[in-house]
Amino acid sequence: MTGSPGYQSLQFLLLLLSCIGSGKFWHTCMGGHSVTDDDHFATNEVLNPMSPMDLHKSIFGKGKSKDRCAHTVNAWEGRPHSVSITDFGAVGDGKTLNTHAFENAIFYLRSYAANGGAQLYIPVGLWLTGSITLISHLTLFLENGATILGSEDFFDYPVIPGLPSYGRGRELPGPRFSSLINGNGLEDVIITGDNATIDGQGAVWWSAFRKKTLNYTRGHMLELIESKNILISNLTFKNSPFWTIHPVYCKNVVVKSLTILNPFDAPNTDGIDPDSSQHVCIEDCYISVGDDAISIKSGWDQFGTSFAMPSKHIKVQRILAFSRSSAGISFGSEMSGGISDVKVDGMVVTGARWGVRIKTAVGRGGYVRGISVKNIVLHSIRTAIAVMGNYGEHPDENWNRTAYPLIEDIRMKNIVGENINQAGLFLGLQESPFRDIHLANIALQVNTTKQIWNCSDVAGSYIFVFPQPCVEFTRKT
Ligand SMILES: *[C@@H]1O[C@H](CO)[C@@H](O)[C@H](O)[C@H]1NC(C)=O
Ligand SMILES: *[C@@H]1O[C@H](CO)[C@@H](O)[C@H](O)[C@H]1NC(C)=O
Ligand SMILES: *[C@@H]1O[C@H](CO)[C@@H](O)[C@H](O)[C@H]1NC(C)=O
Ligand SMILES: *[C@@H]1O[C@H](CO)[C@@H](O)[C@H](O)[C@H]1NC(C)=O
Ligand SMILES: *[C@@H]1O[C@H](CO)[C@@H](O)[C@H](O)[C@H]1NC(C)=O
Ligand SMILES: *[C@@H]1O[C@H](CO)[C@@H](O)[C@H](O)[C@H]1NC(C)=O
Repeated sequence: MTGSPGYQSLQFLLLLLSCIGSGKFWHTCMGGHSVTDDDHFATNEVLNPMSPMDLHKSIFGKGKSKDRCAHTVNAWEGRPHSVSITDFGAVGDGKTLNTHAFENAIFYLRSYAANGGAQLYIPVGLWLTGSITLISHLTLFLENGATILGSEDFFDYPVIPGLPSYGRGRELPGPRFSSLINGNGLEDVIITGDNATIDGQGAVWWSAFRKKTLNYTRGHMLELIESKNILISNLTFKNSPFWTIHPVYCKNVVVKSLTILNPFDAPNTDGIDPDSSQHVCIEDCYISVGDDAISIKSGWDQFGTSFAMPSKHIKVQRILAFSRSSAGISFGSEMSGGISDVKVDGMVVTGARWGVRIKTAVGRGGYVRGISVKNIVLHSIRTAIAVMGNYGEHPDENWNRTAYPLIEDIRMKNIVGENINQAGLFLGLQESPFRDIHLANIALQVNTTKQIWNCSDVAGSYIFVFPQPCVEFTRKT
């Protein structure tokens, strides 16, 4: 250890330990705010009297401006032209299907693309629609109190081909349903609102999925393919049929100040999934979902390998995450195009099965490397840190039995946890052991004496980690 950082680390660890020992974990550690499990988990609804964004602010503060995501588009000058969806005959009664009104409005706005683009304004009302396809140089703006409702009729979502890096739909072979809001090959797009909501009405999809009556993979609430210079902000997304926000093959994407609310038992309703995308920045979000809050991906097995488009240069900061079934933040299991240069700084994860999780499998190939995860608070989590090579799913029988993924250069520091069942689960691959995994300043209050750390085929180092990790990690001096 060099110079003063060691001293600072010790101070930090002592602070965290006093925090945990105080019996007022949230109060002492979380900037004076105090919530209990019951506030959040009495039902699937968030019963906290504070709005999600107020709770977020009370925990993270406002964040220093130097830590903000860099601009991808000029959201502040506005667009020179604006039309309201009502100009195109839309009816905001929650019953009239407005898909054609959206189509006509967006078709009309095409002619403004060359002149700074245009805004499509959604006033107060309940605007029911099927799939909407966006265009470049467009701002979709929802007024305070406006709600876009996703149609509950599957026929309002055209069936489209699977993505090349997946070779099929993610959950079923063959094509897939299109996403409620979608775009392909776009640039300069802003999807934003002022305390407004996009509600996917996903219950019909979850139920069909559970009954296995779906013919194709479910759509997302928002999917942009091969697009660049995108801003998604200031909205509540709820009841997503499947993964909520899915930028895939994209560049320069900012996702900020979103509230994402999917019930804890809604299957596969990840929050934000950057997939084979570069320069993605996600900040200041409240995410409460039925799967991973944030999951970074890059295609799977032979399809992801031959498409070979990594996810890299990704920042995730100041995220409040709630899940029951899965992780606060995960990497993979689809990672065959590679994942690198990801910085996660500032996350509070409550109730999840995993805090931070890297998941992969033989057959994936690819790599996860250059990952830094720091300043994480874990509250009531089954396994705090998991890096696992045993994820079983494959797109078909033609996966490469010797395509071993590389998991290396992973740094995790300043992690504190309360009511943790297992500190770490590191299950490397015999043929490709996980390596260079570095743990620093980690204090976990573990509530069991069984399998506190469970490690195999992994190598790395630790400093100031409590409880002391397994022997596969060597102590840094
Ligand atoms: C935001 O919307 C919610 C309901 O949609 C409402 O209860 C709340 O008062 C709104 N907040 C602001 C600041 O407008
Ligand atoms: C699935 O396909 C069958 C047979 O083509 C069709 O009858 C049924 O309506 C489809 N179900 C859904 C939910 O699309
Ligand atoms: C979000 O909304 C707030 C308040 O309405 C506004 O000040 C801010 O500029 C908006 N941010 C983005 C990125 O749209
Ligand atoms: C230990 O923590 C886990 C995860 O938060 C929780 O589910 C379990 O009930 C706790 N067990 C005890 C004995 O407190
Ligand atoms: C399977 O993966 C290994 C390791 O990447 C590679 O050397 C081999 O060529 C691949 N085999 C096929 C059939 O693609
Ligand atoms: C470690 O975890 C694996 C996978 O969950 C399990 O099969 C194994 O029994 C555990 N090992 C120990 C020593 O508990």
